Amino acid sequence: MNRPYITCYMLNSLDGKIIGEYFNTERGREYIAKYEQFHDKMDAKACMFGRVTFMDWPWQLAPENKPELPENVPHIDRTDYVADVKADKYCVAIDQSGKLAWGANVMLRGSSDIYTNRVGDHIISVLTEKVSDAYLHYLRNMKVSYIFGGKETLDFRLVVEKLYALFGIDHLLLEGGGRLMALSSGRVW
Ligand SMILES: NC(=O)c1ccc[n+]([C@@H]2O[C@H](COP(=O)([O-])OP(=O)(O)OC[C@H]3O[C@@H](n4cnc5c(N)ncnc54)[C@H](OP(=O)(O)O)[C@@H]3O)[C@@H](O)[C@H]2O)c1
Repeated sequence: MNRPYITCYMLNSLDGKIIGEYFNTERGREYIAKYEQFHDKMDAKACMFGRVTFMDWPWQLAPENKPELPENVPHIDRTDYVADVKADKYCVAIDQSGKLAWGANVMLRGSSDIYTNRVGDHIISVLTEKVSDAYLHYLRNMKVSYIFGGKETLDFRLVVEKLYALFGIDHLLLEGGGRLMALSSGRVW
């Protein structure tokens, strides 16, 4: 096997909603806590989220999601960059155009104490080769790992093969959001 076992794992309401006010109810929080317990029990090496989901977590990003892009940078080859090959766990961000400005190269503690189990997971950004040189220098300065999943569009099969080969990710939790989950539906990643 040259790619991870992939578990699709999301929380939804009985009427199929993946976001909504139910998250903020006492019952909702109880089930989010259970979701995290199962997450930990599965003990996967990495989780994966789409770019839009990260934008729901402002504590994880630079203020206003604005990256400090260096100016007049030299060309940088489109080769994968592994900043931390020995991390205990990884959090993979699908960010094909390089739109995320990171607050750190690991998962940070948000306002809720429910997700502290994820704090410290090392970020891997999944890009296409069309991102700018400045953005790649920015990620290197931040020590955020990145891999290329294609020239103009992402080939998810290639992405998961690289996650396995470069980081030893043998079990991946695909955790949303909805668009990313839909992209995986019916395909062989
Ligand atoms: N209930 C749960 O368990 C749960 C879990 C996670 C998230 N959520 C919620 O889900 C919501 C976000 O879900 P979402 O569906 O809007 O976004 P998402 O799945 O988080 O992000 C969409 C991702 O798909 C990419 N994409 C879109 N079309 C593509 C294509 N043709 N090829 C390759 N990549 C493509 C986008 O890239 P671009 O950067 O180019 O747009 C982006 O990275 C948030 O509100 C979040 O809180 C809920």
